[in-house]
Amino acid sequence: MAGGDTIKIAPSILSADFAKLGEEVRAIDVAGCDYIHIDVMDGHFVPNLTFGPPIIKCIRPHTEKVFDVHLMISPAQPYLQDYADAGADIITVHAEADPHLDRSLQFIRSLGKKAGVSLNPHTPESVVQYVLDKVDLILVMSVNPGFGGQSFIPAQLEKIRRIRQMIGDRPIELEVDGGVSPDTIASVVEAGADVMVAGSAVFKGDDYAATISALRAAAS
Ligand code: DX5
Ligand code: ZN
Repeated sequence: MAGGDTIKIAPSILSADFAKLGEEVRAIDVAGCDYIHIDVMDGHFVPNLTFGPPIIKCIRPHTEKVFDVHLMISPAQPYLQDYADAGADIITVHAEADPHLDRSLQFIRSLGKKAGVSLNPHTPESVVQYVLDKVDLILVMSVNPGFGGQSFIPAQLEKIRRIRQMIGDRPIELEVDGGVSPDTIASVVEAGADVMVAGSAVFKGDDYAATISALRAAAS
């Protein structure tokens, strides 16, 4: 089981101030985050719109940390090259977004990027069973995607446990997204996740470093 020292914290810039995004990215970098979680929404797959490749390209020079790009768009396959070119390091597609998940994952890796797959709360873990050799990261949504600040759905803990078992000793990261806070993080770590997305928990206060430390402490 991962603990406070080994888990990764991925603040979601969905909850940042979009008017000063470069500054916000530098601030979470200095505050000690591991990944920068970038939520791309298309107003179709999810009921909200955020940003696309041009904005990701603009913030790329502001940090050397891993850009963990979560695509909540459908279809995703035609746009994967654009996100790779914009500076993504990990590109995560939703299992529900395209008919050919296996093909999307192979394509992401062919672009030299890490391939992730995300599961909506209602999607069973079995969708990843036959692509385990093609994924670098599995992202369990613990809220319905679209908005920050929602409550963690406890039923996802069982899914996280099952996926951890499926992963076995494969080098696949298990990320959880939605409602992660100092109050919920321990149960998520206990279930077997090792990368924690936190949007509102990090950005609601002024001291990002203190919140990231509090998340790591609560995870141990
Ligand atoms: C939701 C996004 C999340 C969101 C999490 O659709 O994928 O990354 O920003 O926000 P919090 O941490 O506030 O639940
Ligand atoms: Zn996300």
